[in-house]
Order: sequence, then C-alpha cells, then structure tokens
Amino acid sequence: MDHFTYRHGTLHAEGVPLADIAAAVGTPTYVYSTATLTRHATLLQDAFAPLRPLICFAVKSCPNIHILRHLVSLGLGMDVVSAGELTRALAAGCEPANIVFAGVGKARAEIDLALSTRPAPVGQFNVESAQELEAIAASASALGVTARVALRVNPMVAAGGHVHIQTATPTSKFGLSIDQARALARAYSPNHADHTAGHVRIAGLHMHLGSSIVTPQPYLLAIPRLLALADELADMGHTIDTLDLGGGFGADYNTGDAPAPTAFAHAIIPLLQARVNAGLKVVIEPGRFIAANAGILLTRVLYVKHDQGTGRTFIVCDAGMNTLLRPALYDAFHFLWPARVPPELVPLTRGHTPTFASTTAQSLAHAPHPQLTTVDVVGPICESADVLAKARPLPPIAQGDLLSLFAAGAYGMSMASRYNSHPLPAEVLVNDRAFTTIRRRETLDDLLAHERD
Ligand code: LLP
Repeated sequence: MDHFTYRHGTLHAEGVPLADIAAAVGTPTYVYSTATLTRHATLLQDAFAPLRPLICFAVKSCPNIHILRHLVSLGLGMDVVSAGELTRALAAGCEPANIVFAGVGKARAEIDLALSTRPAPVGQFNVESAQELEAIAASASALGVTARVALRVNPMVAAGGHVHIQTATPTSKFGLSIDQARALARAYSPNHADHTAGHVRIAGLHMHLGSSIVTPQPYLLAIPRLLALADELADMGHTIDTLDLGGGFGADYNTGDAPAPTAFAHAIIPLLQARVNAGLKVVIEPGRFIAANAGILLTRVLYVKHDQGTGRTFIVCDAGMNTLLRPALYDAFHFLWPARVPPELVPLTRGHTPTFASTTAQSLAHAPHPQLTTVDVVGPICESADVLAKARPLPPIAQGDLLSLFAAGAYGMSMASRYNSHPLPAEVLVNDRAFTTIRRRETLDDLLAHERD
C-alpha cells in the first residue's frame, strides 16, 4: 500500500497532483512519498519489535540524503557499501555506531574512512574474505582503533526474484562458505590473536540471501546454519553478540506481491527470541521493502509512433533505461499508468492486467478492458533494450501526456546513468500537501563539469 492515489482521475502523491510537480520541476522526475516511507519503515519496526532489531536501511536502494535523514529520524541505522554511501549516511545524521559497512570489495581508503568516523568507527564491518579481514586489521592497527566485524557467511540458499539478485548460491561471489568462516574465526581466535589481529573483534555473523524474496522459507533454512556456526565460534572463545540477517524482503510491484512483514517476522522470531532475550543483537538491512513503493517515476510522452505494417504502437517517453534500468536489466515489471485518466480507468489493482471498479468480472477473466490498447512504452536511448513496458494494455495515450511508473523508489534513481549524455533526473519529496526538490535536475553544464580543461 502506498500514498499514490487517483482523485477524480488525477494521480496524487499524498495531497499533491503529480501534474503540479511536473509543471514545477519538469520530467523525468522521481517523486517520493514521506508517508509511504514512514509506513513501510514502521511496519517492519512493529513486525520485528520482539527482537528489537537495528534496522539498517540499504542505502544503495535509495541514497538521497533527504530520504536517509527522514529514515534516521524514525530511528533507522544505515547499511552502506562504499565510501560514498558512508558519506551520505553521515551527512544524513546517522550515528556511526548504527552503520554497517558491507560490500565485497572495500578499498583500503574506504576502510580507513569507516574507521575514522567520530566519535567512534562504524558499528560493524561485514567481512567477505580473509584478505579483507587482514586489511581491516592492518588499518585498525595503524589507526589505533578496534574494528567490530561480522563474517558474511554464504549459507547456500537460492533466494530472490531474479538470477541477478540471488546472492547466496554456490557460485555467488559474496561471503565466505561456512568452512572458510570457521577457519578464519580460528585464525583470529582471541586466544591466538597477534598484535594486528587484536585490532579486530569478530562479534557477529552476517548473511544476505538475495533480493525480492516473498516467502520466509529461505530465512528459515539459512538462520539455523548461522546459529550453529555462531555456537562453534563461541566455543573458540569469540563473543558473538550480533546476527545480521541482511535484507531482501519483497515489494509490491503487482498489487499483493509483497507479503506483510509480519509473515517474515512470525516465522523468524521463534528462531531467535530466546537468544535475543539472552543478549543477542539482531540487525536487518531492508532497502526495497521500505523504498520501492514509496517512489514513482514521472515521465512525459514525447511521441506516439504507430506502425501500420506491424500494427505496433510505441509510446516514446523522456525517461528510459538511463532513468530506470530495472526493466532492461532484469526484465522487471513496473506498473505504468497515465497520471490522468477517465474515472472508469482508475486502476483498483496494479499488474499487467489491472482491475477497475467497473469491470470486475472482465478483469477476473484476465481480458483487457475494452478501452485499453496494447503498446510498447520506450525511452529515448539508442538501444533496443530501452523498453519500460512491453506489450502493455494501456488507456489511450497522447503526445504530452504524463505517465507514472510505480514502485520505482528502490534501485531507480540509484541505478540511473547519464548514458547517451542525458543529465540525471530530479528527485522530489512530498509531505502531505507540500513538495520539495531534494535533488535538482542536472544541467547540460553539469554534464561537462568534470571534463573542463
Ligand atoms: N544487504 C546487502 C548486503 C545487500 O547486498 C542488499 C542488496 C541489501 C541488504 C538490500 O536488499 P533489499 O532489501 O533491497 O532487497 N538492483 C537490484 C537489487 C540489487 C540488490 C543488491 N543488494 C534491483 O533493482 O532489483
């Protein structure tokens, strides 16, 4: 559920008509709803409350500092994977203690930065290899601090909505196998620690199974594997006080895709409650669940191009794979609908074949509404893959119309590029009846700024 709704056929973000935003800021523009961000963060907090987890928002999903600042104000920590994301989290006011630094390739300068935050280093490094742990130990020793680390374990559970976003399979580059993690923990056991190794404390285990996960099953398979390993590490003398379950909870791309967080929480809590009562700290790293439904991409139709010969209609927009990469990269479905429609075409549910108040019977039969025609919605980029929606039944669309791509708040702007030298889009945050530009549209001057003599 989100706060992008039609009122008298006009799409609003909370209390603001999207047409007002387009008129003020132009297109393409990402528009976020504060109320939806709050709602999704709160749903997770409430569902997992018995475990009192630190919820670290996956910054990669939606890194704008104004969004991060709002989530920090709700009590969230941050999951970062680069010096850039760390800088964003700090700029948003996140306490370093509430930051976990993940990522398979942390450069030495990035490690140094994360160990130099004030008043203390970041709360946790999620370590993915023996050499990375060595590098963290060396940096910490040189800086005279102690790094708190969690070993990222690959529990070998295939999970996730697309093969590109599965991260815990035997061929995946992420994490340590259970055997590797055990060996590393032995090498860094507090009893054998040399001077440098003494600057890292293995305090936890981490996993991240994949993304767009819609059933608790993979967590139920993986968590016991981590708990068994945690017990082994404790026997070696480590104090394992943290279990980081990663992110991965799915979002509503089609209405009803995402289970309520309670579906995950009710399954996971019994596995961990006793240990939490005994002092274990739980971390989760959701990105998509919080941000996806909180953002839409607003785009304007440049041209409508109909080919009599093939019978195909192309709706050419000012947003494309440079603005929203997910359809081209993952064949991802984003519901797309005009920002203004006749009342009978206000969608009740979103999906390839949406439902309408007036045509319930028809929709149940999965037949397209008689007023819809099947079209391809494409972007301006010189690539055949630049398709936002393929063979999609849509209401009549004319040149100049505004379209909205829903559930684009996660991995939308963060994966946007300047391909074909299009400046990056603007970002707007709506709060009730007010909206603020939280990232101005790039200009043509910005494009050249780094290349000037
Ligand atoms: N933690 C770690 C270590 C991760 O690698 C990720 C996402 C997350 C947390 C957050 O996962 P989430 O809760 O958002 O599913 N670009 C792809 C998604 C890639 C996800 C990468 N890692 C997409 O657009 O679907």
